[in-house]
Amino acid sequence: NPERKVAILGAAGGIGQPLALLMKINPLVSSLSLFDIAGTPGVAADVSHINSPALVKGFMGDDQLGEALEGSDVVIIPAGVPRKPGMTRDDLFNINAGIVKGLCTAIAKYCPNALVNMISNPVNSTVPIAAEVFKKAGTYDEKKLFGVTTLDVVRAKTFYAGKAGLPVSEVNVPVVGGHAGVTILPLFSQATPASNSLSQEDIVALTKRTQDGGTEVVEAKAGKGSATLSMAYAGAVFADACLKGLNGVPDIVECSYVQSTVTELPFFASKVRLGKNGVEEVLGLGELNDFEKQGLENLKGELKDSIEKGIKFAHGN
Ligand code: APR
Repeated sequence: NPERKVAILGAAGGIGQPLALLMKINPLVSSLSLFDIAGTPGVAADVSHINSPALVKGFMGDDQLGEALEGSDVVIIPAGVPRKPGMTRDDLFNINAGIVKGLCTAIAKYCPNALVNMISNPVNSTVPIAAEVFKKAGTYDEKKLFGVTTLDVVRAKTFYAGKAGLPVSEVNVPVVGGHAGVTILPLFSQATPASNSLSQEDIVALTKRTQDGGTEVVEAKAGKGSATLSMAYAGAVFADACLKGLNGVPDIVECSYVQSTVTELPFFASKVRLGKNGVEEVLGLGELNDFEKQGLENLKGELKDSIEKGIKFAHGN
């Protein structure tokens, strides 16, 4: 395998730390750069003792951001503030939008060819913000910018397998749309293996549980934050798929929120084939049933607003 450098921005956070651990034990990673505004020396020292090949370095503060990013093949961004009870993903908007804008400005300068895996919420808006920042810098490549929606897929698989009584490691469920509430649309009609034991009521309930998965964790954590461990797992799965694509492994397909012509919306999550330059092909929706068609219509308004809000923020500040 070629040498691959992965940078994590926000590496000392609730998502960042377990993500750093998972990327450290990924055999495709030769260099792991951990950046945060505080706390990275400790995280880097800790993770660096694990006896896997990746060389770990910690970087702290804006003046070390360039060095952290230089030469990166994949940059994963979980920097920001997490959602607290009563907060919608939209409440996070102003803080996280500013953080993402700053970090993407640095990516455009120091590693303009890297694949960017956006985790900072609201992803529906932060991905368009990143696109605008890169356009302004003249480095935008729509094949290299991803909103990580893998946690929605992970949840859909877990909930579907549990309800249908199928072995969870064999289950696959495409999830399309966006990454918040009703914009998350799991396509259980395309789940594999198919299940004939689920009623329409079950499908409605599974859809809702997938859409509300983030809130389920926020409420259970009772004021201590949002999903971190499952999000780190999902981020590691998606980054691994990106690295495999870069390394030329054939047939790497993941759902991701990317620039898209699948619908009339400029950004949309659907199955994406990953290759040596990032997105090789954005795959369509396949056949939808009436419930899913309705779900698709229902999500468009909110997703469109979130995209426009991101674009407006990027231009306004
Ligand atoms: N650059 C780098 N790191 C930053 C910056 C910045 N400008 N601003 C904040 N951070 C760091 C914080 O120092 C912290 O270590 O981001 C980390 C965020 O960690 P947590 O507060 O624990 O939040 P977490 O639960 O990891 O969620 C982070 O991911 O899923 C989203 O909604 C979630 O947007 C939130 C983000």
